[in-house]
Amino acid sequence: MANYLFVTCQSGMEPLVKSDYLLQVPEARLAFSRRGLVTFKLPDSAAGIAGFEPRSILARTFGTSLAHVKVPTEAHEAEQLGEQNDQRWGAKEFGESMRDEERFSDSTVTKHLIEATVSQVIGNRLGPWDGAHLWVRDGLLPATNSSRQPGREPAIGWEKFVSRLTAALQAAALVPPGVRCNQNADFGQRILDLCLLEPSQIFIGQHEVRRSHQRWSGGVIPLVPTTVPPISRAYFKIREAVSWAGLHLRPGQTCVEIGSAPGGSCQWLLEQDLRVIGIDPADIDPVIATHPNFTHIRRRGREVRRQEIKNCDWLLSDANLPPNYVLDTIADLVSHPSIKPKGLVLTLKLPDTKLLEHWQVWQSRVADWGFPNIRGRQLIFNRQEVCLVATRS
Ligand SMILES: C[S@@+](CC[C@H](N)C(=O)[O-])C[C@H]1O[C@@H](n2cnc3c(N)ncnc32)[C@H](O)[C@@H]1O
Repeated sequence: MANYLFVTCQSGMEPLVKSDYLLQVPEARLAFSRRGLVTFKLPDSAAGIAGFEPRSILARTFGTSLAHVKVPTEAHEAEQLGEQNDQRWGAKEFGESMRDEERFSDSTVTKHLIEATVSQVIGNRLGPWDGAHLWVRDGLLPATNSSRQPGREPAIGWEKFVSRLTAALQAAALVPPGVRCNQNADFGQRILDLCLLEPSQIFIGQHEVRRSHQRWSGGVIPLVPTTVPPISRAYFKIREAVSWAGLHLRPGQTCVEIGSAPGGSCQWLLEQDLRVIGIDPADIDPVIATHPNFTHIRRRGREVRRQEIKNCDWLLSDANLPPNYVLDTIADLVSHPSIKPKGLVLTLKLPDTKLLEHWQVWQSRVADWGFPNIRGRQLIFNRQEVCLVATRS
């Protein structure tokens, strides 16, 4: 039986995910794809997807692709759902259709979709699973600081839909009773993946959790409620980078961030009881600027005196500068014996995705500074940028 791999990514990155993967596994073939979700037919010699993990930094998560179901939409129901002929859905239309709970959750199309999904999953004979992840294919870029999260449509109809589908999976003994859909999975667990492609279409896959981001539904780190409003999107970015890369930031350690205004990531780091030095010519939000564990150096990264940041534990950059400029700045700092951070978290801006062709070169540069462990990921909270994390051990 042929094996298929699915990979999820930020909306718009599909062509790059495809070309990256075909470079990695030239014998693979493109199969079904939609915005935010790409599948590949693996070579006939493949026994499952083991050994075929995508290495692309644009891959959010991956697993075995099993099937997709689409239920017919009668003209009047399609109209009710807002669907227009066979037109593919953009994120906006998705959100709109699901914002009306009655129209989405209670429609006949949705009822049929749940039934068809469950019977397809039963027919695949691969269950039961330890849990299920159900997400909406990506179509959204992360909003500045909001609860709107790509890959997780928070529209009103969504929760009702998730609970109905979960109940149907539980009734068919495909997932254990009492397991909530979209819980973070544990390493080693087998998860049923369901991605809503359109209001009348679901993709079905599965995965065994081997990587940190495979614990999250659709590879999307769950949001947590914040006690105070996050100052910027960078609040979520740093939280995601630390969690994904498994960095051990400890209370009392010192983090230096180049490009720290207005202060979202500093806010998160201060919440973790770290000492934070923010380097930025721009103003820092007063809540951060007056925090006792925060120091603002109002200068450009290149103008910092090494003395001011000596003995820092972590060095971060989120400056909106070209990647090579960022790397030159960091190289200059870490070449000094008094600046020996345990790790680096660098946002590399990509005004043009062609810049990603230099990824290997960037990686080698960072490795040469004494950071052999390097990982990259386009975070859920990254826009046109990627995150590079490097550690010494
Ligand atoms: C995306 S914002 C950073 C967001 C910030 N990390 C946060 O947590 O809110 C980019 C910042 O880079 C700063 N920047 C641009 N060039 C810089 C440089 N040469 N050195 C330091 N900061 C720089 C800008 O002033 C801007 O505040």
